Amino acid sequence: MASVAAAAIRPALRWALRRSALSNCQLSRTFSSTVRQSRAPIPDYATPNPARPTHFGFETVTEAEKRERVAEVFTNVAESYDRMNDLMSFGWHRVWKDYFVSSLNPGFSPLTPGLDPRAPQHILDIAGGTGDIAFRMLHNAHIVNGNPDVHVTISDINPAMLTVGKQRSRSLPASQQAALSFVEANAEDLTKTKPLSMSPPSTTEADITSAIPDNSVDLYTVAFGIRNFSNIPAALREAHRVLKPGGVFACLEFSKADKFPLLNTIYKEWSFRAIPLIGQLVAGDRDSYQYLVESIERFPTQEDFRDMIVDAGFVVGSNGGYEDLTGGVAAIHKGMKPRA
Ligand SMILES: C[S@@+](CC[C@H](N)C(=O)[O-])C[C@H]1O[C@@H](n2cnc3c(N)ncnc32)[C@H](O)[C@@H]1O
Repeated sequence: MASVAAAAIRPALRWALRRSALSNCQLSRTFSSTVRQSRAPIPDYATPNPARPTHFGFETVTEAEKRERVAEVFTNVAESYDRMNDLMSFGWHRVWKDYFVSSLNPGFSPLTPGLDPRAPQHILDIAGGTGDIAFRMLHNAHIVNGNPDVHVTISDINPAMLTVGKQRSRSLPASQQAALSFVEANAEDLTKTKPLSMSPPSTTEADITSAIPDNSVDLYTVAFGIRNFSNIPAALREAHRVLKPGGVFACLEFSKADKFPLLNTIYKEWSFRAIPLIGQLVAGDRDSYQYLVESIERFPTQEDFRDMIVDAGFVVGSNGGYEDLTGGVAAIHKGMKPRA
């Protein structure tokens, strides 16, 4: 059913892709016409604190407990994750992801006017899970833009999700596989990362950690991941640290469709009634999918999340810093690390 739905929406997708090619050319100009910029010092709440209260779906838990429970959710769903995504969204998540990636146009560098547009790029896909965004990035960079000097690092806190991604990556062309690395890391602290190990790590391997250096990343992406973080401001601060001046933060996440009451009602009915049931029937796991819909409900509004991005030091564009997809069911937020 999902593939039929995906085929039906391909014309809309082609239109979206053509439209996004335009918006790419305007990317750097968009950011230069900044409407909001914060110079406030980094606040204390942007430092992870295991004992600080946060929420896990509709429950209040500590940051440490949320991390453990989110790890349990994604370990449970890793094997069925891709199939469930298609079922839960009728394949629509593919359209959002295609649009997100083409709007960023990896492999074509708009960052420095005058620089070779096919300059090397390092893309960091945070909470990259089973690789949907990273694989699209590589395709766009290597095939669409003919730029083989684009490297994508898929980073995720959960080795079970990364392991599925690594297996899926074996069907990519060899040149794309060579341009891909998998690392385990908590988005809230990218000073500690370790390469994914497909076999049980030896004691020495388990200890190998390295930091993602300051000012080293051209493009930071996070898709459907950030609402699961225990401390979102800390993750945004880390995004700002690792990005080069002029580098772009881009987030695709579920959002609020409340500007369209009828759509919103149908969407909420589907989310709260159908998704946990599908989770139970298809993946044998109702609770994990109950958490997923509750976490969407708890995620900030488009404007509040945009303000968090600004508070982390990013500048946002004249479009208000975000773009609604499907009436706000999902939204893309972008911010640029100022050049000076
Ligand atoms: C819904 S999946 C999204 C996967 C992929 N980006 C996609 O769009 O299909 C959310 C991912 O966030 C990861 N995650 C949750 N908390 C994290 C954290 N603190 N740091 C890094 N990744 C995290 C989970 O392990 C999971 O793989």
